[in-house]
Amino acid sequence: MNLLEIFWDDAPYVVLAIVVVGTWWRYRYDKFGWTSRSSQLYESRLLSIGSPLFHFGSLAVIMGHVAGLLIPEPWTRTIGMSDHLYHLQALMLGIPAGLATIVGVGLLIYRRRTRGAVAIATTRNDVVMYLVLVCALVAGMSCTLIGATHFGELHDYRQKVSVWFRSIWILDPRGDLMAHAALYYQIHVFIALMLFALWPFTRLVHVFSAPIAYLFRPYIVYRSREAADKHQLVGSVPHRRGW
Ligand code: HEM
Repeated sequence: MNLLEIFWDDAPYVVLAIVVVGTWWRYRYDKFGWTSRSSQLYESRLLSIGSPLFHFGSLAVIMGHVAGLLIPEPWTRTIGMSDHLYHLQALMLGIPAGLATIVGVGLLIYRRRTRGAVAIATTRNDVVMYLVLVCALVAGMSCTLIGATHFGELHDYRQKVSVWFRSIWILDPRGDLMAHAALYYQIHVFIALMLFALWPFTRLVHVFSAPIAYLFRPYIVYRSREAADKHQLVGSVPHRRGW
């Protein structure tokens, strides 16, 4: 077993341990610093374009990763999907998703550098996080683009990277597969692991407390004072349905 195989066998567990213990530590000692540290008050125009592009792009990238890493290759073959068709659909969805995310993060960084108040609110921690994030995104996009031009076995991540990824969760790590995957996949995943290890110590922790319930909460009924005054009794004010 060479060093690279040992690395790919063990690194995921080291990173997982950092994420779990780091998140616990952050919650225990910095509960009130657990925030995305929104800068919307300082600048909102560029944010309103960059943020949705980045966040919706990321969601699509995550869904692509879930499908590509968790669904075994024989399964898609069984339902009659050829490898060519699989890679074609991965490209059609992956490239726009990756591009939207990269353009979005580019806009957010441009805003951080050019809008004075936002620049002042940017810490060294943010700079490191953005740097690793951008490297992970660019390396991922390069994988998709280079992989698209080579359909050989070495370039089919579903035979090596995806099997390695699944092997981690059944505690039977296949570092040998990852060590023999094309170098650009190894670089991308290495940077991704660095990003995961940084996660609990940066503003990225806000992902763990995203207010998803907010999307489904009952709407709030606002009644204007004028209307209430006109009808004297608040309860008798006619109102339209909220939905
Ligand atoms: C262990 C974690 C990860 C693994 C194993 C992994 C693996 C891969 C693979 C194999 C591809 C090529 C997909 C294709 O050619 O269709 C890819 C693409 C990509 N990855 Fe990752 N990745 C990981 C984490 C991340 C993270 C954390 C980010 C973002 C910060 C990221 C961003 C991207 C992007 C933007 C692309 C190109 C667009 C797309 O295919 O959606 N990846 N990744």
